[in-house]
Amino acid sequence: MKGSTGGSRVVLNPEKLRTRRAMRYKQWTPQRLRSTGGYWQARILGTAVHLQIFDWLGNSGRNARAATNHFGGTREGWKIFLDALSAIGLLRKRALSYENSPFALRYLCSGNGSFLLSDYDAWNVWGRLSNSLTSGKRPKVAQPFFSKREQTGRLLQSLDKDARKIAPYLMARLPLSRSKTLLDVGGGLGSFAIACCRRSPHLRAIIVEHPRVVSFTSRAVNNAKIAKRVQVMGLDITKEPLPRGFDLILVSNVLHGQGARENRALLRSAYRCLNQGGRIVLRDVLMNRAGTNPDWGALFSVALFLHTPHGRCYALDEVRGWLRAAKFSGIKGPFRSSPLPFDPDSVLIAEKS
Ligand SMILES: C[S@@+](CC[C@H](N)C(=O)[O-])C[C@H]1O[C@@H](n2cnc3c(N)ncnc32)[C@H](O)[C@@H]1O
Repeated sequence: MKGSTGGSRVVLNPEKLRTRRAMRYKQWTPQRLRSTGGYWQARILGTAVHLQIFDWLGNSGRNARAATNHFGGTREGWKIFLDALSAIGLLRKRALSYENSPFALRYLCSGNGSFLLSDYDAWNVWGRLSNSLTSGKRPKVAQPFFSKREQTGRLLQSLDKDARKIAPYLMARLPLSRSKTLLDVGGGLGSFAIACCRRSPHLRAIIVEHPRVVSFTSRAVNNAKIAKRVQVMGLDITKEPLPRGFDLILVSNVLHGQGARENRALLRSAYRCLNQGGRIVLRDVLMNRAGTNPDWGALFSVALFLHTPHGRCYALDEVRGWLRAAKFSGIKGPFRSSPLPFDPDSVLIAEKS
C-alpha cells in the first residue's frame, strides 16, 4: 500500500500491511469462521439450562436411565446428550454416571443459569432471520415483552440480575443528592429506581411500565418492601403523556426498542415533565455514525430487527440531535455505564435549563 505524508511516499512493508488488514477485518480466520458459524454448543448448553439438568444433578451422580425416568425420552438420547455435556466440560462422567463440574455447580445451578433462558427463548425467532430480511416483515409488537408472558418474566429477571450489578456504577453518575423525585421510564422490575431510593432516603420514584408488563413491576417493588417511596404506573409511553414534576428522569434501554420518531416524541415528553433545572439520563448502546461499533450493538440491532417493530441501536450523534431538538442543553457524556464486561451501554446526561 502506498500513501503520502507531506509529499514523501510511504511504502508499508508486507508484514505491516497484513496486520493493518487483519485489524480492519477483525482477525477473521477459518477457525473463527467455524466457531461463529456453529451453534451446536449454544443449543446444547441452552437446552441443558432450560431443562434444569444442572439443578437435577445437584451434588449427586446420575445416569442416563435416571434422566429417562425424570425427564422422559429414551436412554439412548440422554446418553448422547449427557456425553456431549461431558465433552464440553460442563459435566464429569465416571463410569455410567454423570456429575456437575465445579463450574456448572457454581454458575448453572439453582437459577444461576436463568440468564441464558431468555436467549434460548429467542431460538425460533432467529431461525426466521433470512425470511425476515427478504420479506422485510417485522413483528407488530415488541417480543417477548408484549406477546409472551412467561418469556417476558424470564427476560425481565435476567435484565434485573444485570441491572443490580450495574446500579452502583450508574448511581455514581446521577445527581441524586440534588433530586427529590425520579421518573424511571420503562423501568422493568424497577432495579434502578429501587437502588436509587435505597441510596437516597429523601428520594421518591415513579416507575412507568407498559400495561402488559406492569404487574411484574408491581410485584418486584412490593417484594423489595419499598412501595411507600416507589410508585408504579401502567402506561404506554407511545400513546399517553408521562406524568409531570420530576427532578430526574431515567430512560434505560428503552430507546433501542422503539423507532426514531417515537424516541423524538419521548424526549419531548420527558422535557415537559421535568422540573426546571432537572436532568434526563439516557442509558443505551450508542453506536458510531456508521453503525458498526461497538460490534455488540451491531449484532444486537439484528436481534431488535427480529423482535421489535422499529427498534435498533442508535448512533450517539443521532441521540444527541434528539436531545437538542427536544430543547435539552448541557449534554454530558457519553460515559461508560459501568466497567462490567457484560455491559455495553453508554450514558448521556442532559439538563432542562
Ligand atoms: C430492555 S427493558 C429495560 C428495563 C430497565 N429499564 C433496564 O434498563 O434494565 C425495556 C423496558 O421498556 C418497557 N417498554 C417498552 N415499550 C414501552 C412502552 N411503549 N410503554 C411503557 N413501557 C415500555 C418494556 O416493558 C421493558 O420493561
